[in-house]
Amino acid sequence: MHNIIITTCGNSVKIAKSLATKLKAKYSPLTISAFPDGDTYLKYNTNVKGKTVVIVQSFQPRPEMSLFDIVFATETAKDLGAKKVILVAPYLAYMRQDKRFHPGEAVSSRIMAKLLNNSVDKIITIDPHLHRYRSMKEVFTVPAKNLTANFLIADFVKKKYKNAVILGPDWESYQWAEAIAKHIGVESTVLEKTRYSSRHVTSKMVKPVELQGKTVVIVDDIISTGHTVAEAAKKAKAAGAKKIVAIGVHGLFVENAISKLKKAGVSEVVTTNCIEHKTNKIDVTGLLAEALKKEK
Ligand code: R5P
Repeated sequence: MHNIIITTCGNSVKIAKSLATKLKAKYSPLTISAFPDGDTYLKYNTNVKGKTVVIVQSFQPRPEMSLFDIVFATETAKDLGAKKVILVAPYLAYMRQDKRFHPGEAVSSRIMAKLLNNSVDKIITIDPHLHRYRSMKEVFTVPAKNLTANFLIADFVKKKYKNAVILGPDWESYQWAEAIAKHIGVESTVLEKTRYSSRHVTSKMVKPVELQGKTVVIVDDIISTGHTVAEAAKKAKAAGAKKIVAIGVHGLFVENAISKLKKAGVSEVVTTNCIEHKTNKIDVTGLLAEALKKEK
């Protein structure tokens, strides 16, 4: 696809390169640095005039700078004559703050969306955190496509684990847990989670399924501090699970998340490559490439 330039602001380099190869498009990373006073310096290293520029950038690490760099990169591309700018954000941050939980708080998802609505022409992402928002249309005015890694996760589980049960750690996760379990043909259930703070959650099983002697596969969209999945793992362990696996679409792993999961009884942690990490075992590049093939 000669009309497409694939670039990145620094995160998602592996996916960006692999997308370019799959699409037979040119890959040209941006130069981004800072002037001595801290002002951002950004430069395209290829001619983008008349081209569709695809910025591939997950919002981790450094979600705040990712957002800022994406807006700078988009505005610069347009200023240089690009025909269209598409943001491919395998992980889109800020979606969890989808309401004002306490008086005076910023509704970050709306602010992030406003900045992107004002610059990019289209957004493609994977399993964004849609909880109180049911669709991307509630926040984005530009076309925003959300793809899902559900079937890739289901195929992975089917190939790798015998005697599996899918466990969603909270009510929102039914959308993944159910779809994945159905695709494999195994049982699933979700826990009821109460979140007291960013680092304190509890959960209980409201719709029990037999976990005794099973391989319990906990699936969640985001594993951040690991508290949510750790609580679920403790419940699975108490219910007699033989093996506990944690699968996250977006592995943020902040603080000491991985050791927290291990301590709670998780023996394997698996993620997609939406965010680059050593636990990446499920490749989403094919999904993104298919979505981009429809672009002219
Ligand atoms: C929230 O509802 C999400 O689906 C995840 O469960 C949550 O973001 C995980 O966060 P943490 O790992 O910090 O518990």
